[in-house]
Amino acid sequence: MSSSAPAPLHIVDLIRKKRDGSALDAREIGLLVAGAANGSIPLEQLSAWLMAAWLRGLSLAETQALTLAMRDSGEKFSPARLGKVAVDKHSTGGVGDKTSFLVAPLAAACGLAVPMISGRALGHTGGTLDKLEAIPGFRTALTLSEFETVLAKCGASIVSQTPKLVPADRVLYALRDRTATVESPGLICASILSKKLAAGLDALVLDVKTGSGAFLRKREDAEYLAALMVATAEAAGTRTVALMTDMGQPLGRMAGNWIELIEAVELLRGQRPTASEDLRELSLILAGWMIHLGGKVATPEMGRQFAEAALADGSALRVFFEMVAAQGGDVSVFDDIDAFHKPGASQVVEAWQGGFVAEMDTTALGWAVQRLGAGREKAGEPVDPHAGIEFHARRGARVEAGQPLATLYATHAEMLAEPVELIRKAIAIQKESPQPVPLVSRIFTRAAADAYLKDAVR
Ligand code: URA
Repeated sequence: MSSSAPAPLHIVDLIRKKRDGSALDAREIGLLVAGAANGSIPLEQLSAWLMAAWLRGLSLAETQALTLAMRDSGEKFSPARLGKVAVDKHSTGGVGDKTSFLVAPLAAACGLAVPMISGRALGHTGGTLDKLEAIPGFRTALTLSEFETVLAKCGASIVSQTPKLVPADRVLYALRDRTATVESPGLICASILSKKLAAGLDALVLDVKTGSGAFLRKREDAEYLAALMVATAEAAGTRTVALMTDMGQPLGRMAGNWIELIEAVELLRGQRPTASEDLRELSLILAGWMIHLGGKVATPEMGRQFAEAALADGSALRVFFEMVAAQGGDVSVFDDIDAFHKPGASQVVEAWQGGFVAEMDTTALGWAVQRLGAGREKAGEPVDPHAGIEFHARRGARVEAGQPLATLYATHAEMLAEPVELIRKAIAIQKESPQPVPLVSRIFTRAAADAYLKDAVR
């Protein structure tokens, strides 16, 4: 061996190094990720390293090296042949969050490509793929070449992750789930961004939720994750912004599968139900940032104006229907969108006293949606396309005793009792009107993220 050849690396030494609080370099992290993807490192060693990383934390450099190594662990999508700037939006998950059905067609209608690789419902949060699969015939498991064909035709496509895309995350995420190492900012950042960056994005808008329904409940944790993801994606060459947005109540008035499509298509058709106004507003803000970062306009506010125009002239609706048809979906179900809603059973929950709708435990509301049959507890379980909740009163609304608060839709009548109880406990009705909560509370551009991370104590 020549004197300049790097010393061979032993996994046990990398575990020990992290355990003792030192940072690994990019070569060491690359070895761990390659070993996770090709199965050459035993799971007990990967688990030990994950726990050491969870306990010691990952530096910014380690997080960036992990993200890139994971991104490069399998096949990647290259949008270059589309001849358009590729942008996407990713949300950290929530209840009633259906902005993807609006922002993808809005950005595509403004001349961008939106290659969106999405997830399924798990725990209290809903999943974009399950919602789309409520459309008869809609296929989410496209090959990368089918994905490219739909993107070339429609400008937007929403699909599931392929087995070959970021295989390292498949192994590491399953291990994290089983070893209590999910809640680590560095590991979350690398897991989310490796999948987004493997789609070859030029720009990315992150919607990081805060409040009672958010994945990270502590505001400072959510802020740190937002800044970390912006700095990491920017370092990888993707223009990125993160918006901290409110998940202190469900977004819009529907939470479930088909009923979320009803609400999204109403807005794409130009209707403006009062209880869907927050969904419309957030979708326009996010799309405005996508259009701005995609280089179409000088500011996010101008991007929003472009998005409003694409909503008003019906071009975003056309993109959405084209995408549904191109992915095998039966567009005729949208001719009478309410008639296609066929829940097995339903029940109205009424206000038990007069007052103002105040605090909501949005995580509990998400569990209620799941228990009605719309979500799943374990990966792989089926979901009911027609289960869910329609909320009639939003936070801050004045209600009289007996006024409908929510309508629940379930597969069977026996499934209604537990969610009804969850809702009664999750919504507070009080005498005083609650303080308004801003929809967008903070924005991390690259400069803001760098400044935040410089001062953050971790
Ligand atoms: N979603 C992901 O894809 N990865 C995480 O680590 C957490 C949420």
